[in-house]
Amino acid sequence: MNLLFAIFLLGTIFLLTIADPVEDKEALLDFRRHIQHSRSLNWNESSSVCNTWTGVTCNEDQSRVIALRLPAMALNGSIPPNTISRLSAIETLSLRSNSIYGFIPSDLSKLQNLTYLYLEFNRFSGPLPLDFSVWKKLTVVDLSNNFFNGSIPSSITNLTRLTTLILANNSLSGDIPDLNVPSLQQLNLSNNNLTGSVPHSLQRFPSSALSENALPPALPVQPPNIQPSMRKHSRISEPTLLGIILGGCVLVFVAIAILIICCYSTKGGRDGRPAKSQKIEKSLKKGVSERTESQVKNSRLVFFEGCNLAFDLEDLLRASAEVLGKGTFGTTYKAALEDATTVVVKRLKELNVGKREFEQQMEMVGSIRHENVAPLRAYYYSKDEKLMVYDYYHQGSISAILHGRRGEGRTALDWDTRLRIAISTARGIAHIHTENGGKFVHGDIRASNIFLNSQGNVYVSDIGLATLMSPMPPPVVRAAGYRAPEVTDIRKATHASDVYSFGVLLLELLTGKSSTNTTGSDEVVHLVRWVNSVVREEWTAEVFDVELLRYPNIEEEMVEMLQIGMACVVRIPEQRPKMLDIVKMVEEIRQVGTGNKSEISSPTTSTPQAISEIGSSVAAH
Ligand SMILES: *[C@@H]1O[C@H](CO)[C@@H](O)[C@H](O)[C@H]1NC(C)=O
Ligand SMILES: *[C@@H]1O[C@H](CO)[C@@H](O)[C@H](O)[C@H]1NC(C)=O
Ligand SMILES: *[C@@H]1O[C@H](CO)[C@@H](O)[C@H](O)[C@H]1NC(C)=O
Ligand SMILES: *[C@@H]1O[C@H](CO)[C@@H](O)[C@H](O)[C@H]1NC(C)=O
Ligand SMILES: *[C@@H]1O[C@H](CO)[C@@H](O)[C@H](O)[C@H]1NC(C)=O
Ligand SMILES: *[C@@H]1O[C@H](CO)[C@@H](O)[C@H](O)[C@H]1NC(C)=O
Ligand SMILES: *[C@@H]1O[C@H](CO)[C@@H](O)[C@H](O)[C@H]1NC(C)=O
Ligand SMILES: *[C@@H]1O[C@H](CO)[C@@H](O)[C@H](O)[C@H]1NC(C)=O
Repeated sequence: MNLLFAIFLLGTIFLLTIADPVEDKEALLDFRRHIQHSRSLNWNESSSVCNTWTGVTCNEDQSRVIALRLPAMALNGSIPPNTISRLSAIETLSLRSNSIYGFIPSDLSKLQNLTYLYLEFNRFSGPLPLDFSVWKKLTVVDLSNNFFNGSIPSSITNLTRLTTLILANNSLSGDIPDLNVPSLQQLNLSNNNLTGSVPHSLQRFPSSALSENALPPALPVQPPNIQPSMRKHSRISEPTLLGIILGGCVLVFVAIAILIICCYSTKGGRDGRPAKSQKIEKSLKKGVSERTESQVKNSRLVFFEGCNLAFDLEDLLRASAEVLGKGTFGTTYKAALEDATTVVVKRLKELNVGKREFEQQMEMVGSIRHENVAPLRAYYYSKDEKLMVYDYYHQGSISAILHGRRGEGRTALDWDTRLRIAISTARGIAHIHTENGGKFVHGDIRASNIFLNSQGNVYVSDIGLATLMSPMPPPVVRAAGYRAPEVTDIRKATHASDVYSFGVLLLELLTGKSSTNTTGSDEVVHLVRWVNSVVREEWTAEVFDVELLRYPNIEEEMVEMLQIGMACVVRIPEQRPKMLDIVKMVEEIRQVGTGNKSEISSPTTSTPQAISEIGSSVAAH
């Protein structure tokens, strides 16, 4: 079995390696060869372009490169001709915040699928490309903060999918073309040398979009009935419209006010997803002080080796974000960068360490590599802001899967998956315990820190944060259910207290109950206490999650896991098993996926018998 699996794995790795887009790889290497880059680019010729190269994203079958994102990589030079233009399938090109100078090479016109173009904050000069209509799919164009001169080519009016056009802070002159593109949502041409009158089609944008030009005094912003989002209203029949106007002048007024506020508040986002990009402004950006923003240019996210993401702090702050949860150590966001990449950003609070100590801990956490440990991708430290960046896992946390949406329409977490979670989590934690010469501690094991990706792989996350925290007020309620009784200061977690928390997780998987539960009389009951009492008093299978009752022939396995869980949560730390032994114990319940149950399980033992054994072992402590 194992041999077959190994062959399969090797085969997969082999396939991945040869599936690399060879010609795109050559083009990228040529690009790197001809441009200075003082930040190291981990483009190793013998490693996979699609899976390891910084800033490179491939399509699904890994046959072509579809995105190149190298923001803030200290690129210095002009774009070498006949390099990027060979990436003919590319959709996203982001080279912003570098020191690239010279013209935009005319051969980029070959990139027919180009959709997102970010070249802002460079030193490009010369005219804009004359014929924009070759890029039929172009949706977002940001060429701001460069030294482009000449006029805005009228071919830009042919870009029917354009949602964002930012040309601010250049030296563009001449008339503004009549950009009558209904999809256009964001425009900024400010701080150029544009002349003539503002075309009618652009009068719907706020005057600040055109400020600092040689234009005649800006006309007042038109009433919002020509806003694209209001277009539908013109189809409303006249009597209805009249009714609305007569009946609701005040409402219209409020609507206008809201629209104006919306227009202004979207100016930071550039990703053309209006609904969400407003949310981010309210989440990630909020709380980042002015001072931090001005530091953005000087301080960078620190990335770890083998990470093929490329973005900077500014990206993170501007990305559309969604609050995933508020935990002991801060708030976690899901942030969608530019067009495709999604990452998880953890914003830490209550930190009690200086920069050096923080960085040391991050470097240690970031160096941990294991198939069941969520890799830390990047971190950021400034006086006011400490961020950690992880991958986004599509199925979310075990806590959300186990406890979320109970009731109708829910797909229960099946027993095989729970076993797999137990085994993988144990392996991940055991690996963590071998780090730093066997001294590393997770410190905050709980269902909400363990994640499943779309393939159902399990990842242990949020490692090693507890030691960085300020002393917490005594009952950190949320953690309480997982915290070993001997731990009074969460910064002083040990391997044994990790084992306790893991035991609680096992009980959670078995019972489907949270680590702490509130009874009808508002009394908080810890899961461990509850399981102990049920097992002691009733010797029945009542502890098990009702959702598990539908699976046949798993009682023995559940009882085995219960025994392991209860061994982990004994009061006396020295009596708890070691993580490496626990891995073996959990693996022996059944080799999920690869093993055959009947080979491994011992002949039928009666369930009540097994449970009463636990009962007496519990009673002994
Ligand atoms: C490139 O990858 C190969 C194999 O993965 C490795 O042996 C080599 O050291 C790497 N080279 C660099 C410069 O990182
Ligand atoms: C770019 O390179 C040139 C010469 O190699 C150097 O003089 C210049 O300072 C560099 N610019 C930046 C911003 O690093
Ligand atoms: C451009 O995109 C289309 C649609 O996604 C795809 O069919 C086509 O192959 C792409 N062109 C190139 C050169 O990859
Ligand atoms: C643009 O700038 C270059 C020098 O950087 C100059 O030679 C050229 O005449 C300028 N073009 C226009 C239209 O101003
Ligand atoms: C728009 O595209 C059409 C066909 O591709 C072309 O004939 C026309 O000249 C373009 N318009 C401008 C203003 O470039
Ligand atoms: C233009 O430059 C100014 C000053 O450097 C800056 O404050 C502003 O944000 C820039 N505008 C855009 C749209 O990037
Ligand atoms: C704008 O145009 C005027 C007149 O052509 C010129 O004197 C001025 O230097 C230009 N300003 C910029 C920022 O290009
Ligand atoms: C355009 O950019 C300028 C700064 O260059 C800023 O003041 C203005 O608010 C922006 N306008 C819009 C509509 O984004």
